[in-house]
Amino acid sequence: MKKVLVVHYSQSGQLSRIAERFVSPLTEAADVEVTFAALQPVEPFPFPWPFLRFAGTFPECVYLDPPPIQTPPIDPEERFDLVVLAYQVWFLAPACPATAFMQSELARRVLEDTPVVTLIACRNMWLMAQEEMKGMLESVRARLVGHVALVDEAGSVWSFLATPLWVLTGNKGPRLGGRIPRAGVAEAEIEACDRFGSRILDRLRQEEPLDESLLRGLGAVRVDEKLISSERMGRRSFRAWGGLIRAVGPPGSLRRIPVLLAWFTFLVAFILTLVPISVLLKKLIAPFTARRIAEQKQYFSQPSGVS
Ligand SMILES: Cc1cc2nc3c(=O)[nH]c(=O)nc-3n(C[C@H](O)[C@H](O)[C@H](O)COP(=O)(O)O)c2cc1C
Repeated sequence: MKKVLVVHYSQSGQLSRIAERFVSPLTEAADVEVTFAALQPVEPFPFPWPFLRFAGTFPECVYLDPPPIQTPPIDPEERFDLVVLAYQVWFLAPACPATAFMQSELARRVLEDTPVVTLIACRNMWLMAQEEMKGMLESVRARLVGHVALVDEAGSVWSFLATPLWVLTGNKGPRLGGRIPRAGVAEAEIEACDRFGSRILDRLRQEEPLDESLLRGLGAVRVDEKLISSERMGRRSFRAWGGLIRAVGPPGSLRRIPVLLAWFTFLVAFILTLVPISVLLKKLIAPFTARRIAEQKQYFSQPSGVS
């Protein structure tokens, strides 16, 4: 009997649904046992998010400070043939509950020398979060053999509005008669996720060790080269602002509020100015940077490769 563990956390339920669809060929197979472990913060993160709580979560998230989570129902002695780690992106970093799991003793014991597939569903900026996740996987000596990233169907520009409106109100939209498109991953993409589970099932049945070729050729990720430098700039500035906010006071303290509001104003200005300018500059210099961009795309799409 092959054993697969699915560790997941979702607020709206979208990512957990994606994870279920992803492993559905495995759950339906008689020769595979699938264990689901939902991460549960001791103090739940609200959904929809009140604005100040949303903004206030940012510094700890960026600095990978783990919030206390309940111990997931996983036997630390059990060995799995594969672990699927389904996490969202918060502020260009892994969502705090996923960070908390990765930093736990349980993760160290369960993931050591075990093949892991990371599965993300987010707005569309996941590159830096996956870099952080790779670091955490390395520190527990897990073997990253696959990576799948699904992004919101609204597209880069409209999702800047649609996704925050969704998490701040709980309503996916569409809004204004369809002028602001619906937030979240397209239903067709969610449905098509079982192709990954089918491939994994085939490989498990071949009795070969799972390696980086596991999910190649299935369109597991699409790296948007226009976002690479925006994400890098974003992460640098998030660390600077996050450090400042942490120096001002502990989470939830009133002293943080003015700095949080200043950061949020900066963030909106950053999105409206620096992001489009950097996208435009990238386009202008594209003929001279084609090789470097191809290398970057290749790097970020590992281990599963681009569509
Ligand atoms: C606090 C917070 C910060 C977020 N930051 C990002 C981000 O940096 N990049 C991104 O692509 N999506 C971001 N998102 C969107 C989430 O990754 C995800 O798509 C959304 O929360 C819905 O997840 P769920 O349906 O699993 O609950 C953020 C969401 C929240 C709540």
